[in-house]
Amino acid sequence: MNQGFLRKILLWVGLIPNSKHIARQLRQPSGSSAEKFGLLMNKANNNLYDKIIDILDLQGGEKILEIGFGNGRFFEKLFKKTKNIKVSGVDFSESMINSAREYNEELIDDDRLELLYCSSNAMPFETGIYDKIFCINLIYFWENPSENLREIYRVLKPGGKFYTCFRTKDCLSKLPYTKYWEILYDEDEWKNLLEKNNFNYLNKIIINERQVEMMGQKVQLKTCCMIAEK
Ligand SMILES: C[S@@+](CC[C@H](N)C(=O)[O-])C[C@H]1O[C@@H](n2cnc3c(N)ncnc32)[C@H](O)[C@@H]1O
Repeated sequence: MNQGFLRKILLWVGLIPNSKHIARQLRQPSGSSAEKFGLLMNKANNNLYDKIIDILDLQGGEKILEIGFGNGRFFEKLFKKTKNIKVSGVDFSESMINSAREYNEELIDDDRLELLYCSSNAMPFETGIYDKIFCINLIYFWENPSENLREIYRVLKPGGKFYTCFRTKDCLSKLPYTKYWEILYDEDEWKNLLEKNNFNYLNKIIINERQVEMMGQKVQLKTCCMIAEK
């Protein structure tokens, strides 16, 4: 049997997920596939987290917020850099929050980490309390980016930094499931949006990643980590 035909049959009987399902699970993992997608994201983004945590350049004493942390397997990497930080995380997937809370029980009990179930456009935090806020693979899912950016700006300290880490439009647009996401950005589009929402652009770091193969197509992944200041 030829491979294309076999794939169509497997898709049809639901043995391999279709693009719409993948897109939905990456946006907001839920139901019986949530755990599996959380682990897949860990595998895909482990090295990326290492690089981005280096870029955060933690000095100790900071208050950090991660938005859209998935199953939260990487918070321990932050504390390996320095123990003297306070970390919050928000995510709007109930499955991911439950998994992350279970995995990070010790950090939470020690009062070093708090994880909240909410959306980034309405976060229950006081104004001006975070030194550094970061998100990885999140912005493609925002229906109203300005609403989210206003909220992030509000909870940042004056002079605080926002690190947006996203795979760029040129590579993501080649993956079949991304057509179901809200929007893909290139570097200039995201920079303009940050500036339109009062952030001062500081700089960007490009991370060239591995090549992935999907449905017969090879895609060279590239992440932009853009740093802006309040
Ligand atoms: C593609 S996953 C990325 C997970 C992780 N950052 C990574 O790169 O492996 C996106 C995560 O962001 C969360 N998310 C998406 N939109 C959100 C929003 N508006 N507010 C909070 N969390 C959101 C999803 O629930 C999901 O856990």
